[in-house]
Amino acid sequence: MKSYNRKAKNHWAFNLAMAAVLMCVSSCYYEDVAPVEVVVPVDPINYELEIQPFFDAKCIACHGGSISPNLSASVSYDELISGNWINTTASESSPLYMSINIGGNMEAYATPAERAIILAWIEQGAPSK
Ligand code: HEC
Repeated sequence: MKSYNRKAKNHWAFNLAMAAVLMCVSSCYYEDVAPVEVVVPVDPINYELEIQPFFDAKCIACHGGSISPNLSASVSYDELISGNWINTTASESSPLYMSINIGGNMEAYATPAERAIILAWIEQGAPSK
């Protein structure tokens, strides 16, 4: 009986010590994380890798030459810039974005994720690469 009691006591002390360790660990972790402002990094969007493939998949069946803007690979970027389809000072007012956004003529051909990447690319200044 004596040894059983000592064992139980040790167990209790051990659990208390573990709880103290866990509380310390979790509170340290919380203090570390709480004051940090979360900034979600947005990688620079690459026109050839992220924008043109969207046009290829969803647009060029119609916008491959005869219907403006021409969105086929070799000409799409120049066409979008020279045709004023992009407005980098008021990204959401870009005619390209407005046409694929909710309520635009081309709404049906773009998903929310595709709209978001087009908008992010324009907000980044519509880089050609
Ligand atoms: C099924 C054919 C078809 C597809 C696919 C298509 N378009 Fe169009 N698009 C048209 C036609 C036809 C017009 C011109 C008449 C009109 O405005 O409806 C047009 C017009 C536009 C215009 C001019 C402004 C406007 O909204 O009218 C833009 C910009 C445009 N399309 C972008 C796109 C983009 C970007 C895609 C791919 C996400 C796309 N289109 C997919 C047929 C298509």
